[in-house]
Amino acid sequence: MSMTASPDNQVHIRDLSFQLLFSETMVQERVRALGAALTESHAGLNPLFISILSGAFVFASDLIRVFDDDCEVGFVKLSSYKGTRSSGDVQTVMGLEKDLHGRHLVVVEDIVDTGRTLHFFLNHLQEQEPASITTVAFLRKPHAVEFPVPVEHIGFDIEDKFVVGYGLDYDGLGRNLPGVYQLIEG
Ligand code: XMP
Ligand code: MG
Repeated sequence: MSMTASPDNQVHIRDLSFQLLFSETMVQERVRALGAALTESHAGLNPLFISILSGAFVFASDLIRVFDDDCEVGFVKLSSYKGTRSSGDVQTVMGLEKDLHGRHLVVVEDIVDTGRTLHFFLNHLQEQEPASITTVAFLRKPHAVEFPVPVEHIGFDIEDKFVVGYGLDYDGLGRNLPGVYQLIEG
């Protein structure tokens, strides 16, 4: 097995070890708060939640279930992130089929690192003249200044270390961990 858990709140994935950063309980508590805030701001608007695949699918699925009114859900696949370093150009691989004109959009992202992904995607959405765009990121790293993007709701601000769990992967593994784990360096 390539992913193993040890009793000291660590997980080992392939060649790397990760330490628990946010437990499942902490994550769920934070997601409930974000869902409550979105219910406040978006109830009655039939918002379209747009989940950026693949990483945000776990967060999005929990978030929509704590949004307490009608909503719709869509998915978009953008370019990927290789290994543990942000890389390359961002491009839409799989688009949204829905008409976004006049819709209230809630963009759901797993993690904002440099902001490149969101910067690109928000510009793309803006061109379709939605009524509003609100961005929710589960995690944000300190470099999120390189490509300044408006992110209205953040789950947690974290250090600039690679993390896995709750949808985030290392080389495909770790997405199914219910908590968030941070790379042990060195
Ligand atoms: P940018 O730089 O575009 O990066 O804001 C956002 C994307 O990079 C990926 N990313 C990570 N994925 N652990 C991951 O599993 C991390 O620590 C991490 N940091 C960035 C992620 O796909 C996100 O959409
Ligand atoms: Mg990844």
